[in-house]
Amino acid sequence: MPEEIRTFIAIELPESIRRGLAQVQEQLRRGRHPVRWVTPDRIHLTLKFLGEISSEQVEAVAAATQRIAAAAAPFTLEAVGAGVYPNPRRARVVWVGIGGARKPLEQLQANLEEALTELGFPPERRPFSPHLTLGRTRRRTKSSQARALGQAVTSMEPPALGSWQVEEVVVMRSDLRPQGPIYTPLHVAKLGQ
Ligand code: 2AM
Repeated sequence: MPEEIRTFIAIELPESIRRGLAQVQEQLRRGRHPVRWVTPDRIHLTLKFLGEISSEQVEAVAAATQRIAAAAAPFTLEAVGAGVYPNPRRARVVWVGIGGARKPLEQLQANLEEALTELGFPPERRPFSPHLTLGRTRRRTKSSQARALGQAVTSMEPPALGSWQVEEVVVMRSDLRPQGPIYTPLHVAKLGQ
């Protein structure tokens, strides 16, 4: 059987932002919430999750990403605020939000979505909600614990972790391992080139 590759498209973060994200995690860790925290060097901004695809599909995705990225220009984003999905009464995902040049980010994501839909990938049903996932609650988290986590995140001083210049988009391979996923860049597409 041909190999299937778990793939997604993302924007990577500079060290300065990762350090800030680690500090937010540190602060929340003190609450001993039942959360699996994402290792800071694995945190990224997902633009599109493709799931398991063939290497031919990876080629097509890389080419489409390259074309879309080339037509865009670099822009600046900020890592600001924190919240939980789906809502504070039932926290499952803890995230830091995205500010700054949201318009070019949304345009880039919409262009990718359109190009990938043409390649046969189902479009996202939910609206794009850019975020940096810090952690996810463990299985069998009690609803009281999920509520306490939601309360802790929404009541903290909103983090302002600074900004960074987005210059490339990465087609990433994800290998799921018991210790956590291993991410390997398959294709780096420079914005404006
Ligand atoms: P998340 O940060 O919101 O969890 C790699 O798995 C990336 O793809 C994750 O950052 C994850 O976003 C995103 N993703 C989106 N949809 C997904 C899905 N159905 N399964 C796994 N990851 C998904």
